Amino acid sequence: MSQTKNSAGRKLVDAAAVQKRPLTRANEAMSPQVMSEEAFSCTHLQDAAYYSDDSTLVLHMDVRDGLKLLAEAGVRVNCVVTSPPFYGQRDYDVERQIGLESHPSAFISELADVFDATRKVLADNGSLWVNLGDTYWSGKGEHRSGETKQSARRFGIRPQDKKGDGGWCVPKQLLLIPHRLAIEMQDRGWLVRNDNVWVKPNPIPDQVRDRCSMSHEYVFHFAKERWYYFDKSAVGRTSESGSTLPPLDTWEVPPVRGQAGRHKARFSQELVRIPILTTTPPRGVVLDPFAGSGTSLVFARKHGFRAIGIDAKREYCDLMVRQLESVSETKIGSK
Ligand SMILES: C[S@@+](CC[C@H](N)C(=O)[O-])C[C@H]1O[C@@H](n2cnc3c(N)ncnc32)[C@H](O)[C@@H]1O
Repeated sequence: MSQTKNSAGRKLVDAAAVQKRPLTRANEAMSPQVMSEEAFSCTHLQDAAYYSDDSTLVLHMDVRDGLKLLAEAGVRVNCVVTSPPFYGQRDYDVERQIGLESHPSAFISELADVFDATRKVLADNGSLWVNLGDTYWSGKGEHRSGETKQSARRFGIRPQDKKGDGGWCVPKQLLLIPHRLAIEMQDRGWLVRNDNVWVKPNPIPDQVRDRCSMSHEYVFHFAKERWYYFDKSAVGRTSESGSTLPPLDTWEVPPVRGQAGRHKARFSQELVRIPILTTTPPRGVVLDPFAGSGTSLVFARKHGFRAIGIDAKREYCDLMVRQLESVSETKIGSK
């Protein structure tokens, strides 16, 4: 920054230089550094990986261990996109799984801790996208209630079936989990850029009579800093004058229906289209810390980006490798 002195000999800050700074930072954010190919293929990462090739790493481990390993290896990703377990919806039957905490506040804090750990591996001008749906505290207000719809919709224990705490956790209460997480993230220093709404046409109907049927989830866009990489040209809308407008914050995407032997809570590749295409620079790295069947990794691979997936369940890591195999010429063999 250039400086000059006033008549009293005191240093003055050059106002023009100060004004230029945000522009410079904005420009710098649009040419982000991407991790080198050598660093991506280092032996430290390859040795720990369940599967690896030139553009993909699959880590079969707890998300916290995976993020620690990536941070120690000096990994820098450009885009984190993920759908963590939703509160009280599924028992994934893995050690230290997230989602079955007895109180929603414990879930929010576990999840925010995980996202704080992603900060260490996310480039300063990178973005974090989190898909999260909401949960009702059970209308029955008791553990393992005899609801017939329970077995049809979900499997395993539902913490929200336990008797409530008389606070947020009372029968029929919509817990507002997605926004509680977003507020916690704000409190921890993340910048909330959008609460994009995933609108689901033709959702599976809720078995309820006294409220509207749920047909949306959220996809939050968080940034570490004010200046971050965002390329709207890949997904933008064209205005009447021919200029490119950013996409809207409501995304109509049909949900993927489960198939036998497949992951039961997959999201659609269409859901990661805007996150990955807008916030990953050419040959950049996408990270999905709860990768499941590998939807984000497959989309990234199809579009020439590198990708890292973490999942604690071996069966899903196998599925991820098979999915990747189906979009690649390269022969993939899991370790
Ligand atoms: C909602 S699913 C992700 C689905 C994924 N987006 C897809 O399209 O297939 C959440 C995933 O988190 C994983 N998971 C749960 N607890 C975990 C933990 N502590 N560490 C790593 N993975 C975990 C589950 O095995 C599950 O695959």
